[in-house]
Amino acid sequence: MNDKIFTVRLSDDGKAVELIDQTLLPNTIKYLSLTKAEDIWEAIFELRVRGAPAIGVAAGFGMYVLAQQIPHESYDDFLSDLTRAGKYLDSSRPTAVNLSYAVNRMLDTVRAHEGMSRTQLLPILKAECMAIYDEDRDMCRRISENGLTLVKSGDGILTHCNAGALAATEYGTGLGTLLLGKERGYEFHAYTDETRPLLQGARLTSFELNHAGIDVTLICDNAASLLMKQGKINACFVGCDRVAANGDTANKIGTRSVAINAKYHGIPFYVFCPSSTIDFNCKSGDEIVIEERSGEEIKTKFFEKPVAEAEVKCFNPAFDVTDAELITAIITERGIARYPYTESLAKLFL
Ligand code: MRU
Repeated sequence: MNDKIFTVRLSDDGKAVELIDQTLLPNTIKYLSLTKAEDIWEAIFELRVRGAPAIGVAAGFGMYVLAQQIPHESYDDFLSDLTRAGKYLDSSRPTAVNLSYAVNRMLDTVRAHEGMSRTQLLPILKAECMAIYDEDRDMCRRISENGLTLVKSGDGILTHCNAGALAATEYGTGLGTLLLGKERGYEFHAYTDETRPLLQGARLTSFELNHAGIDVTLICDNAASLLMKQGKINACFVGCDRVAANGDTANKIGTRSVAINAKYHGIPFYVFCPSSTIDFNCKSGDEIVIEERSGEEIKTKFFEKPVAEAEVKCFNPAFDVTDAELITAIITERGIARYPYTESLAKLFL
């Protein structure tokens, strides 16, 4: 995105998490300045800030903002209050591992300085949350560089959900290859799944790509298979919310259908993944908790009138798990991993 639009940052005085309210995009650009635990929690839960890396960055900043509000100087009391705040923030959404990653990283930083006072710890925590932010930018850029080795100018790329700057920092992950490629003169044709029910593809991905000057065509989720059959898709690009040690990947609901379709049509299916999204403690996708959201998101959210009767039951999982076998490659900042991922991911990171 351009300099004027940012996803999430720490305010100049360090006392607030500032973020663009993504629920209002693309029609309204509004920034929020959050200082209270409840407001940061709500912003993550309501997807005002969303996308695994961006949630992690927001949580890191949130922990620092809340740390400054702790009234105790003593190490034990400070750690105890910050642990409580971390547990609370971590409860806002279950699937993206970046949330607990950032919360735990901030708490581990305190534990690594056992015995220090609040006054001593605060600057260290500020440096840590800034490091999470800076590392994310760096990872996104490297992932994008690695992604560019897999495609050529003129390719048609199918995207699902939003894995761009709005979901992370600067380039994003899944869209980073398109954005970096554009800067280097590549011409891509992006086909963007609208991504029911919260329309991250329609509202966010088409907005980002359009503003970056990339040729983007919005499609209904269920049009992807037809485009694949017509030969318009050369590769599928998606982000991820949690990658298990064996490569099973949780991402926005519908991702698995895209992967199955891609396999059927012999089209490469690529997952773009910063190391902060790999959960080596999770052996397979069976262990990943899938967030379930309100049925109202299906029936009423983006419609003038409800599209189903009030008493109709809904099932609204926010994510699904794509089996490792369906994934052509996982593109990380350290390199490109291929199946079997238990070995290839471990080789890159452990
Ligand atoms: O519910 P969301 O919008 O937070 O879901 C986001 C996704 O599924 C993204 O694809 C994923 O977090 C990767 S973002 C780089």
